[in-house]
Amino acid sequence: MGGIELKSPSELEIMRQAGRIVSGLLKLMEKEAKPGVSTQKLDEIAEKFVRSQGAEPAFKGYYGYPATICASINDEVVHGIPGKRILNDGDIIGVDVGVILKGYFSDAARTFAIGTVDAESQKLIRVTREAMMRGIAQAVEGNRISDISAAVQAYAEKEGFSVVREYVGHGIGRNLHEDPQVPNYGKPGEGPKLVTGMALAIEPMINAGSHEVKVLADGWTVVTRDGKRSAHFEQTIFITKTKPEIVTE
Ligand code: MF3
Ligand code: CO
Repeated sequence: MGGIELKSPSELEIMRQAGRIVSGLLKLMEKEAKPGVSTQKLDEIAEKFVRSQGAEPAFKGYYGYPATICASINDEVVHGIPGKRILNDGDIIGVDVGVILKGYFSDAARTFAIGTVDAESQKLIRVTREAMMRGIAQAVEGNRISDISAAVQAYAEKEGFSVVREYVGHGIGRNLHEDPQVPNYGKPGEGPKLVTGMALAIEPMINAGSHEVKVLADGWTVVTRDGKRSAHFEQTIFITKTKPEIVTE
């Protein structure tokens, strides 16, 4: 790989604009994700919104991925393909979206409760979001990549959940996935040093049961092996000298 690309202030400004589109879209998805709606319908709404903002869907066509969003329900961890499945009261859904604006990418995800969900699902969503935020809090100049990883893992496991190993966060910029990888588990103090100008997508996937996952026959949908639920949150952030700048909030 070509190493970690540092972004200039003008590149970061474009990525901020891309980030605003992604966060606007996730807000719209939260409003639209209600009992009775299909994930295909959410995808149509998402694609229309992205294009109306002058951006393009980043996932569509990426290694042949067929849609604008990933929609991952209940035991689906990530990369669920939108389709005819209807959301039901009590489901949880992870919505992940990336956009390209003027050649730069932004990528974020949230997990939403559909109607009334059980107490464990509520806790899983809360803990996954908080694990992400604790990881982001470590994303400051002078720390190392695995300080993010260790903070995510420590919190998720303390709360009785487990961390998916096979999929990781990543650098982001002119490409959806750049160096460095950002695992959600590991010992602190390892990996590349964080410096101003780095842009990262930090994205824990946390399982209610065991951390083991498998990919379904569609070649995309990742599910938990034990059938228990999983949640996913992701933000695109910039490293600065002081606190991380979250551009997809
Ligand atoms: N946020 C995910 C990632 O960073 C989504 C990628 S889905 C894909 O990997 F379709 F683009 F692969
Ligand atoms: Co990502």
